[in-house]
Amino acid sequence: MSKIIIFDTTLRDGEQSPGGSLDPKEKLQIARQLAILNVDVIEAGFPITSEGDFNSVCTIAKEIKGVGIAALARAVEKDIECAAKALKQANLPRIHVFLATSEIHRKFKLIKAKEEIIKTAVKGVKLARKYVDDVEFSPEDASRTEPDFLVEVVEAVIDAGAKTVNIPDTVGYSVPEQYAEVIRNLRENVKNIKKAVISVHCHDDLGLAVANSLAAIKAGATQVECTINGIGERAGNASLEEIVMALKTRKDYFGRTTRIKTHEIMATSKIVSGLTGLRVQRNKAIVGENAFAHESGIHQDGMLKERTTYEIMRPEEIGLPKTQLVLGKLSGRHAFKKRVKELGYDLSKEEIEHIFNQFKLLADKKKDIYDQDIEAIIQDEKSEVPHIYELYSLSISCGPNVVPTAGVRLRIGKDKIVDNATVGDGPIDALFKTIDILTGIKVKLIDYSIQAVTSGKDAMGEVGIEMEVNGATYRGRSVGTDIIEASAKAYLNAINKVAMKISKK
Ligand code: KIV
Ligand code: ZN
Repeated sequence: MSKIIIFDTTLRDGEQSPGGSLDPKEKLQIARQLAILNVDVIEAGFPITSEGDFNSVCTIAKEIKGVGIAALARAVEKDIECAAKALKQANLPRIHVFLATSEIHRKFKLIKAKEEIIKTAVKGVKLARKYVDDVEFSPEDASRTEPDFLVEVVEAVIDAGAKTVNIPDTVGYSVPEQYAEVIRNLRENVKNIKKAVISVHCHDDLGLAVANSLAAIKAGATQVECTINGIGERAGNASLEEIVMALKTRKDYFGRTTRIKTHEIMATSKIVSGLTGLRVQRNKAIVGENAFAHESGIHQDGMLKERTTYEIMRPEEIGLPKTQLVLGKLSGRHAFKKRVKELGYDLSKEEIEHIFNQFKLLADKKKDIYDQDIEAIIQDEKSEVPHIYELYSLSISCGPNVVPTAGVRLRIGKDKIVDNATVGDGPIDALFKTIDILTGIKVKLIDYSIQAVTSGKDAMGEVGIEMEVNGATYRGRSVGTDIIEASAKAYLNAINKVAMKISKK
């Protein structure tokens, strides 16, 4: 059964999600997991856009081997040279050149005639081929490009040396049958089409990105561009996990497979949502919390008699850890270590020791400890953000007929202690205002969210913060049974990122 090439663009198009930006360390962490997931190509970034993006692509190219590493470039010399430079240490480098081809883009954005578009595209591909063998070309807004002109462009760039031609539905305008027709038309009318891989890249503005990608595969496309959790520009990109599991579950229909290690899907989804701060909706296919939950009595009864009555995939296929009551107050270090390993974490002795202590503190407050609790502690502890500002103590008063007041004591650096108290509209407002007074950092709070990590009254709360400081966005997170304390820690987690940036200047 022939394989579909999975081109992951979480770190490039996915990172364009509003509020989803990542720093170079976070990008490398995701790239490592994408390599474990076994994607064929990782689009690591768009190097010309910023120094940070350039450095991210360099680092990923240097460290991640055995996977194609792509860098995006407009069809202009400086972009292509910059992408080539960033990919220098990659063992499987790919330059991805793009240029818009639709009439709307030609007329209003580029102000270029058709001939000039072809000339620029060909020049771009030829230049990229001077640096790498593996060149991909994308006619941006391909799905709204005149079919005959698209044929001309694709034929010209293949002649110029493009090994992959990607057909983006840039604005998510297509519907499946029509998009499949675009692919069929190229297969039938581009004379040299057999020399290149046909790729598809769909956006989800009408909620059709996955359906369009699958229709295109059925029509003969052999590479699909997608992102973890479907994150991306506006409504997002086609979701990797949905495409992969559709191909796997319905191989009877599609007759295609992928190299993806599907049992790594859940871990990858969690890492991406944790680092980007973009939560997965509960009812999202494959990786949503409810995707394998059966509520109706009739369904539960059917499941008990025969799983396949209501389940088309097994949760284990995507690496969904069965929720288990793992450990409690009396559990020892050995059992804890074993469970951490079973959950897929490879931690050093010191890390285990530290996390075990946190686990014991949690076990004092919470009777039942689940896998998700352990994972939340690990993610909290593994954060590489320095603790420049640390919460030392905290008191809150609030309630009916009480002015919400927060008293906060912080440790700054090794041994400086500062404290203050102030009032606010509510306890969280008072808390954040007091922290602002103590740090002197001017913060605009963009988003504050809180969600239970597991079920039950004693569940830990996971707090997410998004703030803007000097025009830049920072995110913080923390977990705990005391949600006010977790809120303070999440806020300080973001503040420490700000402080880290300031100290580097
Ligand atoms: O959506 C799009 O057209 C793109 C291209 C740069 C491939 O992301
Ligand atoms: Zn895109």
